[in-house]
Amino acid sequence: MPLLETRDLLVSYGPKQILNGVSLGVDEGKVTTIIGHNGAGKSTLIKGVYGIARVTGGAVVFDGRDITNHAPYDNIKAGVGYLAQGGQVFADLSVEDNLKLGGYALPNDLVPERMEQAYRMFPILDRRRRSDADTLSGGERQMLALGMTLMLKPKLLLMDEPTGALAGPVIEQIMGTIRSLVEEMGVGILLVEQNVDVGVRLADAVHVVEAGKVIFSGDPQELRDPEARRRLLGLA
Ligand SMILES: Nc1ncnc2c1ncn2[C@@H]1O[C@H](COP(=O)(O)OP(=O)(O)OP(=O)(O)O)[C@@H](O)[C@H]1O
Ligand SMILES: [Mg+2]
Repeated sequence: MPLLETRDLLVSYGPKQILNGVSLGVDEGKVTTIIGHNGAGKSTLIKGVYGIARVTGGAVVFDGRDITNHAPYDNIKAGVGYLAQGGQVFADLSVEDNLKLGGYALPNDLVPERMEQAYRMFPILDRRRRSDADTLSGGERQMLALGMTLMLKPKLLLMDEPTGALAGPVIEQIMGTIRSLVEEMGVGILLVEQNVDVGVRLADAVHVVEAGKVIFSGDPQELRDPEARRRLLGLA
């Protein structure tokens, strides 16, 4: 049984239909990558799963339970983590206070231990504990956003473009973190990536979404070759 399944998911914003029946799965300890052009509906898919966008048809099944249109707070408690596009943090709060907020649903005695885990995972945050989040670089901010999400130890992680707007070694670092979450902690990840190379390298399964529909599903191996990628997806 997959950890997450979307069945024929429909989402619309007002009269505008955005998702037109998306079915896919995420297994425990595996990465399912979603690739697609701007506006294809990738973020909407993640928001529909998480309970931010209203699902008008189909179903979201997590851990064998129907969670369609459950509130985000309930989904978080059930073990679903969400990393929003653009690395959202509280700019005027310190690194430490952001992590504390990430752990708001935890029993108090677990918070310090989880914070130390976040600092071990991202030593740069340890060195910047007392700095306001708006003084961090883009990459550091993305690590903080991820650290906040991980405070609750999700079983399923919904990641919306974790490497968006980043470049160089920080991308490799975030990829390394994703691998260790999957391999060492068995987290299942639904990963949206504009960076096809990153998405494909991390993936166990790939789906290409276009205009709210899955137009290609397959083995990431098929998309490793840039020529095949162009032929199959029209993506560079
Ligand atoms: N809250 C909203 N209300 C109305 N339309 C929206 C809303 N959010 C997104 N849309 C529209 O839905 C479509 C899909 O948006 P979505 O954010 O899912 O795209 P995306 O694939 O994540 O794109 P990107 O790669 O640019 O992040 C777009 O046409 C967008 O304008
Ligand atoms: Mg998006």
